[in-house]
Amino acid sequence: MIEHGIGISSQNKVLILDFGSQYTQLIARKIRELHVYAEIVPYTITIAEITKENPGAIILSGGPSSLYEDNAPHISDDLFSLGLPVLGICYGLYAVVNAFHGIINPSPFKEYGRATIKLVEESPLFKDLPRTQTVWMSHGDTVERIPETFKTIARSENAPYAAIENREKKIYGVQFHPEVYHTQYGKEILCNFLFTICNFQPTWTMQSFIDAAINDIRNVVKDGTVLLGLSGGVDSSVTAVLLQRAIGNHLYCVFVNNGLLRKDEHRKVIERFKKHLKLNLIYADAEEHFLHKLKGVIDPEEKRKIIGKEFITIFKQEAAKIGTFDFLAQGTLYPDVIESVSTKGPSDTIKSHHNRVPEVLELINEGKVIEPLKELFKDEVRELGRQLGMPEELINRHPFPGPGLAIRIIGEVTRERLAIVREADDILIEEIKNAHFYNKLWQAFAVFLPVKSVGVMGDKRTYDNVIALRVVTSLDAMTADWAYLPEDLMRRISTRIINEVKGVNRVVYDISSKPPSTIEWE
Ligand code: XMP
Repeated sequence: MIEHGIGISSQNKVLILDFGSQYTQLIARKIRELHVYAEIVPYTITIAEITKENPGAIILSGGPSSLYEDNAPHISDDLFSLGLPVLGICYGLYAVVNAFHGIINPSPFKEYGRATIKLVEESPLFKDLPRTQTVWMSHGDTVERIPETFKTIARSENAPYAAIENREKKIYGVQFHPEVYHTQYGKEILCNFLFTICNFQPTWTMQSFIDAAINDIRNVVKDGTVLLGLSGGVDSSVTAVLLQRAIGNHLYCVFVNNGLLRKDEHRKVIERFKKHLKLNLIYADAEEHFLHKLKGVIDPEEKRKIIGKEFITIFKQEAAKIGTFDFLAQGTLYPDVIESVSTKGPSDTIKSHHNRVPEVLELINEGKVIEPLKELFKDEVRELGRQLGMPEELINRHPFPGPGLAIRIIGEVTRERLAIVREADDILIEEIKNAHFYNKLWQAFAVFLPVKSVGVMGDKRTYDNVIALRVVTSLDAMTADWAYLPEDLMRRISTRIINEVKGVNRVVYDISSKPPSTIEWE
C-alpha cells in the first residue's frame, strides 16, 4: 500500500483506527477538508507502530460488529495510556467504554438514521453549538453504563449516553457519526475536537499531499518502471501527471481505444498527452476486437466483465511489446473501491469495477499496484490536478466509465447504435456547455434504449429509437440527483437530437435519483 504519511509533521496528524465502517474514509476526508492530515490504519495496528507514527490524536472509527460477537475487533487498553486525545465514533465509543470498564448491551431499540440529541453538560466537543441537534445514528448496541471516570455530555431518546467525555484525559466518544453530512453540526464537532481539544493547526494542503505522494512513489518504484492505463479521463490523467512528476520517463502509458469512446475522443487524448504533455504514450486501436467480443451480449455485468477482461488482454499485449514492467498504476478513487468490494457489512457488490477485476486483484496482492488517488474523492482529485497545473478543461471533465458507451447502450452493442449514442451525446454536451451548465453538473450523457416508438416527421410515419438523457448533480457519485435544466435548453437538446441524429424520433429525460437508481443505466 502507498502511504502518504511521509513528510507530514506528526503534531498535525490524526491516526484513524479502522473498525470497518463504510464511513471511515469520510472521516479522513472531512479532516483533510479542515486542513489536518489524517491517515487510516487497521485497528490491529500495534502500540509500537502507533508510537512510531507519532500522531497528535487518535480517532476510533465505527464498524459493523457488535462488541459481544465472537471475533469482535478489540484494541489494546494501552492505547489510552499514550496520553493522546481520542475520539471514539459509534463502535469506537464502545471500545472506549469497554476499555474503561463501562457496560455495553445489545439495545432493544436500534437506531438508524436521523435522531435528535440534547446536550446535557457543557463540553469542549460541543463548544458554541446549540443544545438540540440532529445527528445521524447507525447502531445496534448501546451503552448501558458509562465508566466511572467519564461524564455524559449528550443524550438521545434511544441512547442515554449519546456522547461522553473524560475531559482530563481528552478522551471522547459519540454514538452518532459526525463525519456524515446529515449530522447537522458534524463539521463543527470535528473542528472542536481538532482545534479546541487537540490544538492542531489547520496547515495541511493538497500540496502536502503531492509532496508526500511523490516521495512515496519514488520510494516504492526506485529504479523500476511503471505501466499505466490512460483513458484520458480526470483520474488516469491526474495519476499520469503525478507519476510523471515522481519518476519521469520510467512511466509508460497505454491508451486503449476500445471503440466505446465518445466522438473524437481518441484523437483528442493522443494530441493532449503525446504532443503536449510528452508522455511515453502507446496507442492501441482495438475497436474491432472489442466489438467482436461484445457481439450478441446483452447482460450488463457480462458486458462489464468482457470489457474488463479484454482490456487487460490488449493492455498486456501492448505492454509486452515495450518490455517488462515492475508496477501497474491505476487512477482508482475511493468510491470505485467501496462500491465494488463486498465487505463484512451490509454493503454489497453493486457493479463490478474494471479496476478490481481478478487479474488486478492478484497484482494488488503481490504489492505490484500503485494507486495514489485511492483515498481521494473526485473533487479532491480535481483539486490535486489543479495544483499539478493541469488545464481546467481536463480537470472539469465529467467522469466517463471504463466500459464506456457499452453501458449506455441498453442491449447489444452495435456500430449503428454506437454512432447514434455518440451523436446524441455530442449534441447534449455541446448545448450544455454553450448554456454554461457543464461545470455545474456531475455528468450529462445520452443512453440508447432498444425500444422503437412511432413518430411523425414531415408527413411520414417513423418507427425509430429512443434516447434517454441522464443529467445529474452529485458531490461524490455516492448519491446523485437528476438536474433541473431550463426548459429552453431541454427543448433545444431534444429538437436537435431528433432532427440531427438519424434513427432517433424520441427523447426522454431520466428523473431518478441515486439511490435507489444508479447514475449509469447498466
Ligand atoms: P453508478 O452508475 O454506479 O456510477 O451510480 C457512479 C459513478 O461511477 C462511474 N462508473 C464507472 N467508472 N468504471 C469507471 O471508471 C466503471 O466500471 C464504472 N461504472 C460506473 C459512473 O459514470 C458514475 O460517475
